[in-house]
Parts: sequence; structure tokens; C-alpha cells
Amino acid sequence: MKIDIVTTRNGVRETVAYDYRPRQDGERPMILDVLLQAQATALPDLAFRYGCRARNCGVCTVDVNGRPRIACRARVRAGDRIEPMATLPVLADLVVRRDGIARQLQGRTTADHRDPDLNEEAPEAYHDLTACIECYACLDGCPMHARNFADDAADAALPDAATGYRWGNPFSLLKLQRLRLDPCVTEDGRQAALDAAIDLGLDACVGCKGCKCGVGIDLKGGVVGELLAAAGDRLSGDGASAD
Ligand code: SF4
Ligand code: SF4
Ligand code: FES
Repeated sequence: MKIDIVTTRNGVRETVAYDYRPRQDGERPMILDVLLQAQATALPDLAFRYGCRARNCGVCTVDVNGRPRIACRARVRAGDRIEPMATLPVLADLVVRRDGIARQLQGRTTADHRDPDLNEEAPEAYHDLTACIECYACLDGCPMHARNFADDAADAALPDAATGYRWGNPFSLLKLQRLRLDPCVTEDGRQAALDAAIDLGLDACVGCKGCKCGVGIDLKGGVVGELLAAAGDRLSGDGASAD
């Protein structure tokens, strides 16, 4: 069973036609099964990430035939092509640079805005958003995230080392909307979360067909729609695209 695996060494991409030895039970392998077998045999220095192997940690995402897939949970078939995620800079082989996304939320977490005297039950909508596994599959096709790469300069793909990417993405918006729903966060903190969403480029969501979550969270209704409604006419003002 031939599977193409795209490697990147010293910035040079190469496609390796890996001959996967099928499972004895005849089941189609998970992407991660193929990568582990390739590393144990023909490609001993193949670089890729995985952790939980149970769709919990989110670090194993790769692209298959151009679409993001969670490697420990998605199956492949003969002729498929496994590549690093196209939405983030490649470090080596299937490993991409993830830090610029998380850094974007520095100073914008519950810990930064928590009122120690508040201790209330969170609403259902908050719990729905805790299902995010930080796989970053939702970056695929996001016009807001694409703004980070609009510049053709050689370093355009690299986020600021201290603050992360300038422009946001569905994951960032999810985290900010969760902050707004958190009953232990101050009113100022909720307001700051909305301000941050606008600053990160929420205006890109106006008219966008919406984003898709790798684990089925309702990003369109439960995140983007809520933030757009809260922002109201602020998106037509200066705050919509502040640099
Ligand atoms: S709705 Fe907003 S966050 Fe979602 S893909 Fe479009 S621009 Fe990105
Ligand atoms: S919102 Fe969904 S697709 Fe995006 S990082 Fe979280 S789990 Fe992954
Ligand atoms: S290894 Fe943790 S989600 Fe795939």
C-alpha cells in the first residue's frame, strides 16, 4: 500500500513513496500508524509529533491530500499524500511551528482576568467550548489567519517571537469567547476579550462562510456568531483593523 509522505530537510521538500505493510486485520491504518511504521523501517529520522494517541492532545495534526486531519484518528488509503499542515511554518518533515498561535493569547486568559471571589457554575455554552483540543485544524481556509502571510517577505511566515501572530484564527476566537462566558471572569475581562477579538481581525468573519472544527465544535454559531453580535457596529469603525 503506497502512501506519499512529504519530508522537509533544510528547507527542501521531497516526496517519499512509502510502501506501508498493511495490518493483519485488514483495517485501513490511521495516519499515525503509517508514520510510526515508516519511522521504524524506511525513514528512521522522520520527524512528526504525537502524544496521547487518543484525540486529546491535538499535536498530531497533518494534512492529507491538502486537508487537515488528526493523525491518530483519521484513516488513510492507498495513494494518499501526507504533508505538514499548510497553515503554519514547517520546522522539519511533518512538524510545524505552533507557538505563534498560543502566544497570541498571552494576557488574554482566565488567569489574567479572574475574580477570586467569583465561584459560579459555567453555562452549557462554556462547556461546549472546552472540547477544543488545540489541533489547529480550523486554521485551514481562514482568511483572518491568512492575513499573517499576506506579505511576501521571507520572514512573513514567522510570528513575532514575543507576541505571536498579529492576526487571529478560529482557535483564538474560541478562547476569547470562552473567556466571555466564564462566570469567574470580571466584567472588564469579558470586555477585554471582545476588544482582543476585534483587534485580532474579527472583521474578517463578516461575510466569511465560516470555519470548521476538527472535533465538531460549532465555531460558526457558538463562537464567531456570538462575537460578531457582541461587536455590532464596532466592526465598521477604526477598531476593526487596527495595526
Ligand atoms: S469565520 Fe472568521 S475565524 Fe472563521 S474562517 Fe472565517 S475569518 Fe476565520
Ligand atoms: S477549535 Fe476545533 S479545530 Fe480549532 S483548534 Fe480547537 S479543536 Fe482544533
Ligand atoms: S496524538 Fe494526541 S490528538 Fe493525536
